[in-house]
Amino acid sequence: MEFKIPSTIVKEHKELHAGLHKAIRSGGEIGKVAEEVLELLHEHFDKEEKFALPPLSLLPLLAQGNISSDVAKILPLTERLEKEMPSMLEEHKQIVLALNNLIAVAKKYNEKEHIEFAEALVDHAKAEEEVLYPAAMLVGQYVKSKIGLSLPVSK
Ligand SMILES: [Fe+2]
Ligand SMILES: [Fe+2]
Repeated sequence: MEFKIPSTIVKEHKELHAGLHKAIRSGGEIGKVAEEVLELLHEHFDKEEKFALPPLSLLPLLAQGNISSDVAKILPLTERLEKEMPSMLEEHKQIVLALNNLIAVAKKYNEKEHIEFAEALVDHAKAEEEVLYPAAMLVGQYVKSKIGLSLPVSK
């Protein structure tokens, strides 16, 4: 069983990365603060793509009541997410601080495109905290409860 991150989220990550690189390439003061965002973002996105977002691939299946013992293979990922949640949230705080800095500088130069990108990335982090991370954790908790109740766990 493969746990593929939902394609809409992959697309959003790609677009945000592209927006950030554009801001970096613009150089000057905007480029400098955008580079600070990239430094914070790089490892964070890696972690999300490794264990925070793949559990979401199971949502449609679980919602339809399609549960096989294979879904238990998601548990190491959701357990890691639960363990790392405090640091993920702390990283968001640092990222949002750096983005607010970028927004302020981009406003100073009236660079609408960079303002919009930075605001979209702030919203992205918020959506993760409000919806995506909790949904990924629920996948783990739901799978655990289902396996405990009714499914033989395959080895
Ligand atoms: Fe993300
Ligand atoms: Fe994030």
